[in-house]
Amino acid sequence: MTIQRSFAALAAFCAPLISMAAGDAARGAEVFRACAACHSLVAGEHRTGPSLAAVYGRRVGTADGFQRYSEALRQSAVVWNEQALDAWLRDPAAFIPGNAMAFRGLPDARARSDLIAYLRAVSEGKVAAPRTPGLPDLKAVDPGQRVSAIRHCGDTYHVTLGEGRSYPFWEFNLRFKTDSSAQGPRKGEPVLVGAGMGGDRAQIVFAAPREISAFIRNTCQ
Ligand code: HEC
Repeated sequence: MTIQRSFAALAAFCAPLISMAAGDAARGAEVFRACAACHSLVAGEHRTGPSLAAVYGRRVGTADGFQRYSEALRQSAVVWNEQALDAWLRDPAAFIPGNAMAFRGLPDARARSDLIAYLRAVSEGKVAAPRTPGLPDLKAVDPGQRVSAIRHCGDTYHVTLGEGRSYPFWEFNLRFKTDSSAQGPRKGEPVLVGAGMGGDRAQIVFAAPREISAFIRNTCQ
């Protein structure tokens, strides 16, 4: 057997193994649903976790503009290749102890290799990043969702909406949040979202933290 022929034979023998190890990006896109609550694949779009747009081949803890990395990730020298991603996704807490990703891991080796193939294909521009199910655009809400006044009396917030009606909430059921992104509300125009008028829980989103207490009047009438 010539050297070329034995190489060809070896390649033919290994081909199925290699394609199995490489994973199936299309199936990986399905596996990514387990990640999508916290990660976007759009560059610069950070959620609970950093954008994974170009994660493959990049050093850990270096997604541009993500401000919430743990010390553990910032100090690690790992580069996200096949092996590192596999170890991280199998058991994040064991691979980089002290990290802040609230995810137990994927025990299924096949699911991990499919997912890694997908992350790699997106990073290399071979597969388009899916658009993330958008957060609502709070500048474009219905005027009836805009909050025009908030009054606190006893254990109750009375929230007046744009159409003029006032709704009472038990103070423990109303959350105040801020959204400083482009999708956030306009300055001075907080928005009621969530359960809305029918539900007993809701959240009011402001453009900036300083608006919150400035907006709330402490009065019983
Ligand atoms: C509950 C939210 C959450 C889920 C679910 C989650 N992650 Fe994360 N992920 C994070 C957070 C937060 C960080 C940053 C952790 C830190 O700084 O310690 C992170 C970090 C990462 C990193 C390192 C990124 C970098 O810039 O170095 C990778 C890779 C990653 N996650 C992949 C995944 C994948 C793939 C899945 C799905 C199997 C997933 N994560 C599921 C929240 C999550």
